[in-house]
Amino acid sequence: MKFGFLFIIFSIVTNHNICAYPNNKRLPTINLVKRVSVDTNDTNAITICERMKKAAINKYSNYRDLNSASSNIITSNNGTSSNATASNNGTSSNIATVSNTATSNNISGNGQCTTLIKNMALDEAYYGKMIVGNQKFNMFLDTGSSNFWIPNKNCTSASCQNHNKYDSSKSSTFKPEGNPWSILYGTGSASGVTGIDNVQIGQITCKNQIIGLADNESDDFLTLENDGICGLAFDSLNTINNGAPTIISTLIAQKKINPIFSFHFNHYYVYDDQGSFTLGGVDESKFNGEITYNNVIPNFLIPDYGFWAIKLDDAKVNSSPLSFSGKIAVIDTGTTLMLIPPKDAAAIHSQISNFEYDSQYGVYIIPCDTTAVVSLEFGGVDYKIPSRDLIFLPISSTQCVSSILPVAVFGDPDAWLVGQTFIKNVFSVFDVENRRVGFANSK
Ligand SMILES: *[C@@H]1O[C@H](CO)[C@@H](O)[C@H](O)[C@H]1NC(C)=O
Ligand SMILES: *[C@@H]1O[C@H](CO)[C@@H](O)[C@H](O)[C@H]1NC(C)=O
Ligand SMILES: *[C@@H]1O[C@H](CO)[C@@H](O)[C@H](O)[C@H]1NC(C)=O
Ligand SMILES: *[C@@H]1O[C@H](CO)[C@@H](O)[C@H](O)[C@H]1NC(C)=O
Ligand SMILES: *[C@@H]1O[C@H](CO)[C@@H](O)[C@H](O)[C@H]1NC(C)=O
Ligand SMILES: *[C@@H]1O[C@H](CO)[C@@H](O)[C@H](O)[C@H]1NC(C)=O
Ligand SMILES: *[C@@H]1O[C@H](CO)[C@@H](O)[C@H](O)[C@H]1NC(C)=O
Repeated sequence: MKFGFLFIIFSIVTNHNICAYPNNKRLPTINLVKRVSVDTNDTNAITICERMKKAAINKYSNYRDLNSASSNIITSNNGTSSNATASNNGTSSNIATVSNTATSNNISGNGQCTTLIKNMALDEAYYGKMIVGNQKFNMFLDTGSSNFWIPNKNCTSASCQNHNKYDSSKSSTFKPEGNPWSILYGTGSASGVTGIDNVQIGQITCKNQIIGLADNESDDFLTLENDGICGLAFDSLNTINNGAPTIISTLIAQKKINPIFSFHFNHYYVYDDQGSFTLGGVDESKFNGEITYNNVIPNFLIPDYGFWAIKLDDAKVNSSPLSFSGKIAVIDTGTTLMLIPPKDAAAIHSQISNFEYDSQYGVYIIPCDTTAVVSLEFGGVDYKIPSRDLIFLPISSTQCVSSILPVAVFGDPDAWLVGQTFIKNVFSVFDVENRRVGFANSK
């Protein structure tokens, strides 16, 4: 499991007092440096896919327990996707200055800030800088989990040794709490106790955030560039204090941001592009046309709101509909690929010329020069995944592993885990107040 992410803040909602937000604050620029090399141990595409499958299954197994307790898996498509395409209404009036933020890296007021995010190898994950107390950390931006955690000073795990660690004795704003917490991720686990401190993202400071201080991290984090993870799903997924407020919830409660965040993710092969994460709004310089919203489906896997799960209308290959129905997509910025139930993966790949299924490893092999374009339809709008992103990694000079892996991560034949293969090709908006996910064409 790897995560990548970026925030944008944005106000489309009118009943928030934008005057309460900081004005004329400047956001320090974080320059993005693209990492082009791949971990030497990661050169085998099949191995990477195996790891990613295991990662996704582990990550979501955190919530199986919660789910069995509630015995209430609702997989119906209640979340009717509304065609609320007029969402730019609010953006233009409330945050007219937004578009400056990304280009100039200035915060222009209204509690919005854009921070640039970094892309790990192969768009595996994106992370941004945050300051906890007075200490800097690189944090994965993960809409597929809700915990906020960083390595603690007393962590002796190998993974803690090559990462920044938090020293509470050096922070005057630290408050002890001491509740045990733990979380499983795709490729690892972390655990420790809780603490309370301020978290700064750009110029915005979240006061008294409950954070996880990890004193035990699995080796899976060794090679990752990020120090910790910043979860951006709903509070009920937070394994800290069994549903503690996420950093987003805290920022909203403290009226530091409008209840929305958004991302423009970059591609590792586009060198002059920068990913960005906007808290409190959207960065209008990063998308074209309208944002179309899709309501979050409640009670998916866990009671109430947890995941950013929305209705997927259908998928197409080269514009031919596959006539899927009843599908749910979990939008997870912390997952690299798309992991979808085997039957659905078969339906998609059967429309791609010269595909092969590798039954030993459970991956699809497609020609590296495929021109197939897969698109996902949300809220009546098709969003394309370019052929280049449909291929993940080569296994020979002509054959590549597909970015769509056949696995029912949620144990539900209709639930798709939609990661960066898709998300990096759209401008994505996570509207916390109205509980909906918006997409627009990314510039
Ligand atoms: C990479 O592979 C080598 C040889 O298989 C192994 O010794 C090493 O521990 C691996 N490193 C990581 C970080 O997994
Ligand atoms: C799903 O829709 C049905 C019928 O419209 C409704 O009775 C039910 O409360 C809805 N469930 C959720 C979780 O929204
Ligand atoms: C957008 O603004 C127009 C004019 O102010 C209004 O008629 C329309 O209902 C708004 N749409 C939304 C979704 O708010
Ligand atoms: C921020 O905006 C101000 C005024 O618009 C401008 O003078 C300044 O150069 C900008 N800062 C950056 C880092 O672009
Ligand atoms: C690390 O320190 C915390 C207090 O910050 C403590 O609660 C925890 O038990 C310590 N863990 C280890 C492994 O020493
Ligand atoms: C760290 O976590 C692992 C996996 O849960 C566990 O096996 C190990 O005993 C833990 N180590 C410590 C020092 O608690
Ligand atoms: C959304 O808009 C599209 C195109 O305008 C339309 O075909 C579709 O039926 C609409 N969906 C809903 C749920 O209104």
